[in-house]
Amino acid sequence: MRKIIINALDRKGTINKNIYGNFSEHLGRCIYNGLFVGEASPIPKVNGMRTDVVEALKNIHLPVLRWPGGCFADEYHWKDGVGPKESRKRMVNTHWGGVVEDNSFGTHEFMELCRQVGCEPYVNGNVGSGTVQELSEWVEYMTFDGVSPMAELREKNGQKEPWKLKYLGVGNESWGCGGNMRPEYYADLYRRYQTYCRNYGDNRLFKIACGPNAGDYAWTEKVMEIAGNYMDGLSLHYYTLPTGDWSDKGAATGFSKDEYYATLKAANCMEELVTKHSQIMDKYDPAHKVGLIVDEWGTWYNVEPGTNPGFLYQQNTMRDAMVAALTLNIFNRHCDRVVMANIAQLVNVLQAVILTEGDKMVLTPTYHVFDLYQHHQDATLLGSFVETQEVEGIADLTVSASENSEGAIHITAANLNAGADCPVEAELFGKEAANVTGRVLTGNMGDYNDFDHPNDVGITELTGISLENGKVRFTLPACSVVELTIQ
Ligand code: AHR
Repeated sequence: MRKIIINALDRKGTINKNIYGNFSEHLGRCIYNGLFVGEASPIPKVNGMRTDVVEALKNIHLPVLRWPGGCFADEYHWKDGVGPKESRKRMVNTHWGGVVEDNSFGTHEFMELCRQVGCEPYVNGNVGSGTVQELSEWVEYMTFDGVSPMAELREKNGQKEPWKLKYLGVGNESWGCGGNMRPEYYADLYRRYQTYCRNYGDNRLFKIACGPNAGDYAWTEKVMEIAGNYMDGLSLHYYTLPTGDWSDKGAATGFSKDEYYATLKAANCMEELVTKHSQIMDKYDPAHKVGLIVDEWGTWYNVEPGTNPGFLYQQNTMRDAMVAALTLNIFNRHCDRVVMANIAQLVNVLQAVILTEGDKMVLTPTYHVFDLYQHHQDATLLGSFVETQEVEGIADLTVSASENSEGAIHITAANLNAGADCPVEAELFGKEAANVTGRVLTGNMGDYNDFDHPNDVGITELTGISLENGKVRFTLPACSVVELTIQ
């Protein structure tokens, strides 16, 4: 029997709900078909937004959504996406599949989507191919309350009241698709662009600078040194590839046991990345004023056979659920620095929480992990210890625990071992446990849901839990994610 120890007296800080954020780019079928079907579609919708998808996102309390990219953000000119739809520019989405982008989903539609879901908008501005004036005017368009050219244009386009916008990204992957810049150059540009992004009325921007690609510590060092005093957040992008080879990343389904463990090992690198980037940030920002924003993370496989390679459409199995469980526990435990994370991406792209096909919708195993973990949002992280064993080069168990404002304790634990159940005894210090319930997501490592079998993988009640003298005993099935609620 393995030990988990939770210390309710060791209150480590607040788990920012935005760690459970997501990302939606004009890429493949994420926005169009996935989220937005337009007024003419027979698919049930409100103001063009798919009702099934909106309801599913409300169910997991999606807190924040990043848009419009990604690489698309640095080619996006926001004025193309406002005003009468018939006169909006049609353009080619050069980065993603070379398809026509008709700009029918723009700023107003994104804000409407966020309103329906009840999440905060996170808008990523164009630094790569856009001007300072363009970004400055976008902020004015969205947030200025009063008489100004952009506020008038907004009103003319049907929105009198300004929106509230907190999260503003200034460039995306400026070291790559966002302009191939050197950190010194980007840091200076960042300082310049952000200067003209004003706080209008009581709207307060939280400005996010483009941070490193994975283990590029030199980027973090330079950007923090030059621009650290001008930002509220620094982004980090890291994708999990089973093979580590961008030319052949491996398949999303039908993978071997070796690929399963290689994927989890690659995902576990997030621990080291967050730790080391945080150490550099500590040097320039010891007071932790700047948050680490992991605004792109998740698995990236070869696209599904027969689909457009530029659409990045992939299936999602229990392996992805384990990656999500492992990664979210890492973010929770680093909540002193990680204040937002956005898995890539929301619908039909990369490690999606939702897949759609016509009027059909499937919730992926990753979606169910976000469901199991949702009670951590804005709760207090508690100190935890877990006794692990190594399986194929990785610790088999991962855990985090929190206490919410009503005094309930939630433990999320995953057994990464695909071949063996793990009996566990969880001991709670500093708190009387009167009642315990549990939910579990489990299956074979390659199990997934598809449009013919939408419910093969799902959450069920965890049975066989016992509570005696403050000790909770239960079994984590092989390849499973569990949420325990202790009251
Ligand atoms: O999420 C897909 C792409 O990955 C994004 O557009 C880009 O920022 C990253 O390279």
